[in-house]
Amino acid sequence: MAAGESMTGGAAVSRWIGSANAGYARYAQQELVARFGEVGFQELIPGELFLASIRRSEADVARLLRGNEPVFLRHIHPVQTEFPASRGEEDLLRLQQWLESAGPAISPGDRVGVQARRKPETEYGYTPYAVKEALDRVLTERFAAEPVISGPDKVVSVYMGESSVYAGVSAASDNLSDWNGGMIRFKREDGFISRAKFKLLEAEVRFGLDWSAYSRAVDLGAAPGGWTSLLLERGLRVTAIDPGELDPSLTGHPNLTYHRRKAGEVKMERAAYDLLVSDMSWDPRQSAKLVAEIAPAIRPGGTALMTLKLLRGKPFQSMREVEGILAPALRIVKAKQLFHNRDELTLLLTRPSDS
Ligand SMILES: C[S@@+](CC[C@H](N)C(=O)[O-])C[C@H]1O[C@@H](n2cnc3c(N)ncnc32)[C@H](O)[C@@H]1O
Repeated sequence: MAAGESMTGGAAVSRWIGSANAGYARYAQQELVARFGEVGFQELIPGELFLASIRRSEADVARLLRGNEPVFLRHIHPVQTEFPASRGEEDLLRLQQWLESAGPAISPGDRVGVQARRKPETEYGYTPYAVKEALDRVLTERFAAEPVISGPDKVVSVYMGESSVYAGVSAASDNLSDWNGGMIRFKREDGFISRAKFKLLEAEVRFGLDWSAYSRAVDLGAAPGGWTSLLLERGLRVTAIDPGELDPSLTGHPNLTYHRRKAGEVKMERAAYDLLVSDMSWDPRQSAKLVAEIAPAIRPGGTALMTLKLLRGKPFQSMREVEGILAPALRIVKAKQLFHNRDELTLLLTRPSDS
């Protein structure tokens, strides 16, 4: 049995902290129940962070989640120790003692990230960074491991809650995202056009988009141009379509064609594009209908990526309806509510090769 597991009626129980976008925790919880049956929940931050007790071993939970990734559960990490928060130095010593005893979980040379978070508006006598410093010392001195900020093999996760401190060690791949709480951050660079760009940057990372597979893209709902700018930066030729205005820094780009029209009004050749992206923030069924109509403009085997607005609190039903509207023109490869999605989620789609 792993450190954080206990036995109830002969079955291993593992404990986890799950994160979702604000207001979406209940859907993340429904996803866990759908996969694991009875799950005990305790709210840590209403609507976004919760403790889950699952009647499965840590290894089973991680394997099943990896094989069937949830849409709304953004991040998860195991809890192998929990103790009452003193909110002072004593907590740091307890965390160090716990990590020293974590034994086989960490091997010499492992790249290990310490990811500490504190409940917002909760006063602690030390910062999450102090947790990292204290635990980095144990990682180097006790385990000869390498503390890292990005691209870790293993993660030590610490949550500084209202009345308890929770911690666990896991393989980064078991957490659904190797960012702290799945909160992936990007810098605003010079010439930044819109926050929407973060959604495509995050999709690039989360879906592992391979730009070398694409050379011609069409961007529906392109204005003011965050996505178009990223596609151009990645070396694609882009057709941007929007009745709204594109940022003047983009117009005149040699690889850009811009139609200041609605998407349904632009005639497109069959198989003209390798990639279609759509961020029209519109009724999800209308968006899906339009994208399905335009799909023949994507070459067989090509890709589409679209955001889907979530309306009136029935996201699973909305997803099923949209899936039905998109088929058979496009097949869903992955659906994920990204950290940078607000009341929406992002779909990665493929145009079947035989279409
Ligand atoms: C959220 S913004 C897109 C932001 C953009 N992805 C970026 O990175 O800057 C939504 C855009 O969809 C456009 N839009 C809405 N309906 C459309 C339609 N039928 N055809 C084309 N664009 C549409 C709106 O004009 C608006 O500019």
